[in-house]
Amino acid sequence: PVEDEARIDEIKRLLQERNAVLVAHYYTDDAIQQLAEDTGGCVADSLEMARFGARHEASTLVVAGVRFMGETAKILSPEKRVLMPTLEATCSLDVGCPADEFSAFCDAHPDRTVVVYANTSAAVKARADWVVTSSIAVDVIEHLQSRGEKILWAPDKHLGHYIREKTGADMLLWDGACIVHEEFKAKGIEDLKSLYPDAAVLVHPESPASVVDIADVAGSTSQLIQAAKSLSNDKLIVATDRGIFFKMQQAVPEKTLFEAPTAGNGATCKSCAHCPWMAMNALDNLAGSLRNLDGEIHVDDDLRQRALKPLERMLNFKA
Ligand code: 13P
Ligand code: SF4
Repeated sequence: PVEDEARIDEIKRLLQERNAVLVAHYYTDDAIQQLAEDTGGCVADSLEMARFGARHEASTLVVAGVRFMGETAKILSPEKRVLMPTLEATCSLDVGCPADEFSAFCDAHPDRTVVVYANTSAAVKARADWVVTSSIAVDVIEHLQSRGEKILWAPDKHLGHYIREKTGADMLLWDGACIVHEEFKAKGIEDLKSLYPDAAVLVHPESPASVVDIADVAGSTSQLIQAAKSLSNDKLIVATDRGIFFKMQQAVPEKTLFEAPTAGNGATCKSCAHCPWMAMNALDNLAGSLRNLDGEIHVDDDLRQRALKPLERMLNFKA
């Protein structure tokens, strides 16, 4: 549409005027992902977003994604201005892990190393020994286990279960879940697979164990796109937010991609496999944040220093 074109031009101009760069997650709108790519920003998984923002020389980062991604960018680059199209975009994992309750849980298990998923508030990260994203979680827990450490894991129980199965580590799990990935159903995927027996199944490990169990590949968003390229299958069933199809299809234009069903009867549900908070990012509020400096992320300095340590451990970790 013409209005979109005008917004895109405005955003491009404002990015230059503000010495800003756009850092977008794969689950945001296609137009936002395209803009990030066209303007020298990045489209990535949550670990790569953090790395990109921290090393980029721009004085302003515009983070299109959900709140924890903006907070992580600010914790890593306090000297930069960090803007988000909306500060309302949270995550069910973050909401389901309030800092005070989490802190009490940690206090009750002082013998355990505290590892939290990046999808948490700065206050929860500040209580942790390690922060991990899904792309690095298995490697970090393997490392900790090899040192004989017992783990307290939060907040995603499905990802925690997956890591425990992969590594055999002693992990005590917080009871949180992603409302998007929790909807995928093994039965629906199996039904689809019986129609396309040659299809490979790609799954984000925030999905329930029954779904991860039938996956050919489980991994972060970037890892799933990588797998789409390296697998020889020309049909792929993908269980993650459907925002990923934009970049995945570009990466494998010759392959057929299927959305994994979110209902047991094999029907796809158009609104299920899309994160409602990621969907709050739009061209309009993106332009507004750059124009009016709305949606700026602030993190209290003492909290920032404490959350920085476990985040830096992740960024410095070599498997
Ligand atoms: P990735 O690190 O795989 O991008 O995951 C972030 C996320 O929120 C998935 O739901
Ligand atoms: Fe959080 Fe799930 Fe949305 Fe990712 S898809 S931001 S884990 S609610």
